[in-house]
Amino acid sequence: MASATAPGKVILVGEHAVVYGRPAIAAPVWQVAATATIAAAAPGAGCTIVASDLGQALQLAEAGEDEPLAVVARLTLARLGVNSIPDWRIELHSDIPIASGLGSGAALSTALVRAIFAQLDRPAPPAVVSELVYESERFYHGAPSGIDNTVVAYGQPIWFVKGQPPQPFTLAAPMLLAIADTGIRSPTVLTVSKVRAAWQQDRARYEAIFDAIGDLVHAVRSALERGDASAVGSLFNENQALLKSIGVSCDAIDVLVNAARTAGASGAKLSGGGGGGNIIALVEPATAPAVHAALLAAGARRVIVTAFGA
Ligand code: PMV
Repeated sequence: MASATAPGKVILVGEHAVVYGRPAIAAPVWQVAATATIAAAAPGAGCTIVASDLGQALQLAEAGEDEPLAVVARLTLARLGVNSIPDWRIELHSDIPIASGLGSGAALSTALVRAIFAQLDRPAPPAVVSELVYESERFYHGAPSGIDNTVVAYGQPIWFVKGQPPQPFTLAAPMLLAIADTGIRSPTVLTVSKVRAAWQQDRARYEAIFDAIGDLVHAVRSALERGDASAVGSLFNENQALLKSIGVSCDAIDVLVNAARTAGASGAKLSGGGGGGNIIALVEPATAPAVHAALLAAGARRVIVTAFGA
């Protein structure tokens, strides 16, 4: 019997521009997680994957190429040199809300890949796990930048540029985030394709906005490394204004972002694909309770206050 856990994640800054080659920063969120547990099944039973939170149960031998969990399980077995389907029952659980920018798909796949490595007594290097999980991310995102699978597989804050090895980095001091769910499910593939269509119409304008986002991501990294929370907060606000200008914010996001700022957050922005999903607000121990309450009063479905970079 083997089991493995993977965290949720937030993109701190740089979403969307990261698809166009600019850097982004993401961090794991350990308050929400996905778990995979593998138990031996009766000989000849084959491999069943049960994801009860998603209402899914599938037989690995029969599942099609459009089932991301089956695809990632088969790729992982092949990578480990297992050529016949083992007799296993794999159970997946997750309390990460789906389609809301917290990396639920990447976390489920990461837990699954790690559990398979563990069941076969093999070490699971983050770079290999990330590469396998990327294949399943393609189902959720189309052509993802790879940031979700990377931060979830590495489990620490990362500096990410598409096509380059990720750089895990250390903060001068942990910072506190309030993560609030608009309750609106917004598949990333839709906002990413909306941005692409707009970029095709007006490349010069969009490239200039992506450059501005890239510059502020550099500034966020240096503020995180010197522990300057107030600079990080202002840069969150700047990033939110740029994301709004490319049409990926929405009324529900704007309401929560304003509520957080009014209640004392040093900055707030959408996180992930946008169009709904979650917002993040940078808070301090002293402002966290008021921001938490204000977000719920403004209609957030769920608020998580979490340290990152600890
Ligand atoms: O919605 P999320 O958190 O999975 O993040 C998507 C991030 C984008 O930059 C919008 C897309 C991508 O592939 O990086």
